Amino acid sequence: MSIKPSITVMNGPNLNLLGTRKPEVYGHTTLSDVQDLVRADAEKLGLELRFLQSNHEGQLIDWIHETGPAFKAGESIGMVYNPGAHTHYSYAIRDAIEAAQVPVIELHISNVHAREEFRHHSVVSPVARGIIVGFGIVGYSLAVRGLYELHEAEVSKNLKPGVRT
Ligand code: DQA
Repeated sequence: MSIKPSITVMNGPNLNLLGTRKPEVYGHTTLSDVQDLVRADAEKLGLELRFLQSNHEGQLIDWIHETGPAFKAGESIGMVYNPGAHTHYSYAIRDAIEAAQVPVIELHISNVHAREEFRHHSVVSPVARGIIVGFGIVGYSLAVRGLYELHEAEVSKNLKPGVRT
């Protein structure tokens, strides 16, 4: 029996308040709705979903560290991550991603570039594999799909020609 590879979808501070926090910016969908959405996406792609949220930087760093060895072992295809406000200033989060050597898709529900100036800069983007910004909740599905496609492309590149059908 083969074990399904996992995908981690992780959310940083204040995203537990999705649905009630600034609905004019983030919409009315809750984090639990997002979990249902990405669970369906992961199932379709044959992936196990690990869905995480924390308001604590240290906890988020520990989860990033855990994903590194899982990725190296082929048990995880990487991470979709909305770092919330940590995006704009947390060098500790940035360094954790770099150290874990795990592909991370940075995701923002809102178009951060159309908002306050402090949201225009991301310290995470330079270590992210890809970025999804401003698609609302649908962005989570796009990011899951994007990470899956990147992974498939990597796998087929590393296989000997003719092995993959
Ligand atoms: C956010 C954008 C950040 O600037 C903000 O601090 C958040 C959410 C987004 O999803 O649009 O918490 O990452």
